[in-house]
Amino acid sequence: MTKQHHFDVLIIGTGSAGLMSALQLSDNLSIALIAKDKILEGSSYYAQGGISAVLDINDNFTTHIQDTLLTAAGLGDETAIRFMVENAPKAITSLEHSGVKFTKNKDKEDYHLTTEGGHSHRRVAHVADKTGQSIQTNLLKNVKEKSNITLFENYIAIDLLIKSYDCYGAYVLNKNTNQVESFISHKTIIATGGASKTYLYTSNPDTSTGDGIAMAYRAKCIITNMEFTQFHPTCLYHPHAKSFLITEALRGEGGKLILQNGEAFMHKFDNREELAPRDIVARAIDVQIKTHGFECVYLDISFKNKSWIKQHFPTIYKKCKSLGIDISKNAIPVVPAAHYTCGGVQTNLDGQTNIDNLYAIGEVAHTGVHGANRMASNSLLECVVFAKSCANYINQQSTTLTLTYKQFSQWDASKAAPSKEKVVVSHLWDEIRRIMWNFVGIVRSNKRLKYAQYRLNQIQAEVNDYYKLYLISSNLIELRNLIQTAQLIVQSAIFRTESRGLHYNEDHPQQSNHPINTIIKKS
Ligand code: FAD
Ligand code: SIN
Repeated sequence: MTKQHHFDVLIIGTGSAGLMSALQLSDNLSIALIAKDKILEGSSYYAQGGISAVLDINDNFTTHIQDTLLTAAGLGDETAIRFMVENAPKAITSLEHSGVKFTKNKDKEDYHLTTEGGHSHRRVAHVADKTGQSIQTNLLKNVKEKSNITLFENYIAIDLLIKSYDCYGAYVLNKNTNQVESFISHKTIIATGGASKTYLYTSNPDTSTGDGIAMAYRAKCIITNMEFTQFHPTCLYHPHAKSFLITEALRGEGGKLILQNGEAFMHKFDNREELAPRDIVARAIDVQIKTHGFECVYLDISFKNKSWIKQHFPTIYKKCKSLGIDISKNAIPVVPAAHYTCGGVQTNLDGQTNIDNLYAIGEVAHTGVHGANRMASNSLLECVVFAKSCANYINQQSTTLTLTYKQFSQWDASKAAPSKEKVVVSHLWDEIRRIMWNFVGIVRSNKRLKYAQYRLNQIQAEVNDYYKLYLISSNLIELRNLIQTAQLIVQSAIFRTESRGLHYNEDHPQQSNHPINTIIKKS
């Protein structure tokens, strides 16, 4: 008999979206917050640059909206962007109430605002270069003080429980016992983050395997614009540095991109140079690397004095130093890597999906605020703003709900056997990520996309067979989601016969005059 938990709200994911939504839900609701790894593990914890908001008297909402729309390359949803931008200052206040202490200028009153690609004004509030760590530890501290919230660490959701387009929880593998348990809930919020682990090289932690997108797709949610994978231009290039980001704020503070011989190149690609939107900077670096056969390019901040560097970028200074690079003396070797999933589960401004009682917030969602390319530091903002609106919406609803647990099938593992072929799982993991990196990367072509689709279809069949035969494990759950998400990305990329924002296909270099979203739904 599958163990059952009953809660008013199940939140899958404990990044900034998941934790913030839990805090904003009414105290009279019982809430389960589950994380497939340690509670703090997820992209949110590693966020460096900061969170954007109009906080300076010389800045205004219209400019923040315009910058976001321009970066979104014709596919940004103006209503959603306006909603996010106008709620940004309140988001900063909420974070401060939870204990986040943003870096202030010397007088200790004004925020020290930095800038990043696409922003025409300094509007990125930050906590030195460890904004995410500060947000996450403070939100978690607040969550732990709430008696109506129960945290489940090392619990990985497998699939949503759906009946007649209505969601009532999820099957979850308890990794501590290796048993599948059912979480039955009135409302389910998916806050599982993005899917950048579908690529071989990524700035993301291991949690970003697209689980929420794949689960939602299987549940017949609408999935939008999956072709727009954002590649961050500057991840540390070093054999011993796994997924370490060099924040764009370093370029915001004057950091120059150069080749090994010291030559700058960004002026050849865009007049905003190092602060052009990410798609342009990542493609420019890709061109340099491929044209010259280089392994990386370099990012130089060594012209600033050492104490300034240590004060503004302590994490980066320390990390590079530990690898033998003194960034106050030498340029940092960098390469682009998969960083952010702009597409995802389609929602409205309250996080509602097309399935009753199912919500999606944070990177997993497609709210329309990023369009074809996300502007830097708008993601943490999206997490906080939409977590709050989703929770407020649920709060208004919950009092009128009557608890009716519907019939659902028990998890049945009676036909599954322990696997002696775990190597298949690790091999397929690796193969998917290589295919995505080599054939569905920064610059795409019809031929490469078709090849990727052909081979991913075969892998999908192999994964389905394996999933039916063998007992479930965390790696297998993630593999099943990884292949599903990779296929959604490729399918969307094939649909888009133009180049726009983060999607560049050399066989379709032109931009259509009639931009449309790519929408996929399981039949
Ligand atoms: P995450 O923070 O990724 O959390 C996902 C959660 O879901 C985790 O708890 C994970 O365990 C859980 N989960 C996933 N699948 C399952 C499952 N099947 N079952 C149970 N739990 C599951 N954005 C900015 O705006 N500003 C920045 O400065 C910035 N810097 C960044 C730096 C780095 C290195 C990275 C990687 C990203 C950065 N971003 C930044 C992007 C931003 O951090 C993320 O988009 C955002 O934090 C995503 O938050 P989230 O809550 O949606 O997901
Ligand atoms: C960074 O600090 O460069 C990341 C910012 C972001 O992804 O928004």
